[in-house]
Amino acid sequence: MRSTQVLSDAKLAIDGGPKAFARQHGPRRPKIGVEEFMSIAERFGFSDDTLERIRLVISVDDLGDGPTLSRFLTAHPPHSKGEAFERAAREIFGCKHALSTSSGTGALHSAMVAVGVGPGREVIVPAIGFFATAATVVAAKGVPIFCDVDESLCIDPEKIEACITPRTVAVAPTCVMGAVPDMDPILEIARKHSLKVIEDCAQAPGAKYKGRCVGTLGDVGCFSISAYKIVGGGEGGLLLTDDNRLYERACQLAECGGLTRPDRFAPPRYEGELFCGTNYRMSELEAAVNVVQIRKMPSLITRYNTIRNSILSKLKTFKEIVPQKIHDPDGGAGYMIRFFPETIELGRKIAAALNAEGIGIGRFLWPAECAVRGKDAPPDWHVYKDMFAVMLQTDPAESGCPFSCPAYHEKGGRIEYNQGDCPVADDLFDRNIQIWLDSGYDEEDCRNIAAGINKVLSAYCMEDENGRQWI
Ligand SMILES: Cc1ncc(COP(=O)(O)O)c(C=O)c1O
Repeated sequence: MRSTQVLSDAKLAIDGGPKAFARQHGPRRPKIGVEEFMSIAERFGFSDDTLERIRLVISVDDLGDGPTLSRFLTAHPPHSKGEAFERAAREIFGCKHALSTSSGTGALHSAMVAVGVGPGREVIVPAIGFFATAATVVAAKGVPIFCDVDESLCIDPEKIEACITPRTVAVAPTCVMGAVPDMDPILEIARKHSLKVIEDCAQAPGAKYKGRCVGTLGDVGCFSISAYKIVGGGEGGLLLTDDNRLYERACQLAECGGLTRPDRFAPPRYEGELFCGTNYRMSELEAAVNVVQIRKMPSLITRYNTIRNSILSKLKTFKEIVPQKIHDPDGGAGYMIRFFPETIELGRKIAAALNAEGIGIGRFLWPAECAVRGKDAPPDWHVYKDMFAVMLQTDPAESGCPFSCPAYHEKGGRIEYNQGDCPVADDLFDRNIQIWLDSGYDEEDCRNIAAGINKVLSAYCMEDENGRQWI
């Protein structure tokens, strides 16, 4: 009581007097502390014994206020894992800007908006890839135009020009399950028609095309960095570009609080800089895992490609088998071998026999016994005809936008989607067989797998020296 009295009579701290609250006497309790860390350790699957030992070791540290898992509250920005992830991405891909996002879909949506997709505008997307590419065109209020594929299962450059209209603003080639589209002619067509190129490389991070990383060939590259991709721990995405304006506009969509702007409350520095977006920020926890994952990516892809090429170089050629076209044998992300038997019937026999040999097959995410899709297959989001929300032109607000809004109709836009629009995709998607590879295979594994494939194909097909080469 007395000391309070004395203090309240003292000079104000602002005038050089003693501070009323010089330091906290009670313990500081971090908002996020040991228990949260242990919860993460549990998620990693450590045993109870190990968890107990970890708890004992880490409990001795005083965490002070504790960490923050938000990138923008990180006390020392150089320690932000989000920043570290973006820095690593810039270094590895050799590009000027990298933006981490909460998902590959978030990266794609940001890219679509950045290049100016909106009402009355179209984007050419591949008939095979993933729903998110077309869906984010629609989310940006644009109209996706499906383009057929070639025997790589990626967009066919020869079919792109027929899809171009005065409303086209971009083309979005997808790397399909590690396969890389034939980018040179795609880039040439885009240049000729002043279209932006948004590469969707979600299924092939680290793949190359003629020595250059996919995702850095077009105007913007988008990746999913998630648990079910070859790089990524949980949910995440990445956007790459060398273009300052595209980067700033992508940031504006992905971080509409303006935290990435030099002055977040400043008026727009140019038309199109400032607009309402959303929040696709990657969390610090995801970034912590992904910064490690992305550094493993180049050597992982090299291993996959060595394994793929080793097996392919040992395969015989057959009359009834068309191997997937590989546009760059030194590139791609070779975690899979794929081919198209002449008929679905033949494919089913081959699939069963390969399974019996212990060679892991399957079609996209299907179980191995459904390896060859056929006509009666259940829907699959990797092929245009099953992307129902697009095919049926659904609209959550009953506004008609983007498919039948005035902005589209005034520019002469009319769209109808039908199964059969992309016949090559329809056919190849139903017939393809894929063999998943493991990055740990050694040369003996490669020899055994090649021998198994040759054994099965020789039993059901006719060897043909003039048949299509695998590589
Ligand atoms: C080609 C492609 N694009 C985009 C995405 C979407 O990525 P995410 O699931 O991280 O949103 C995926 C995911 O499967 C994909 O395969």
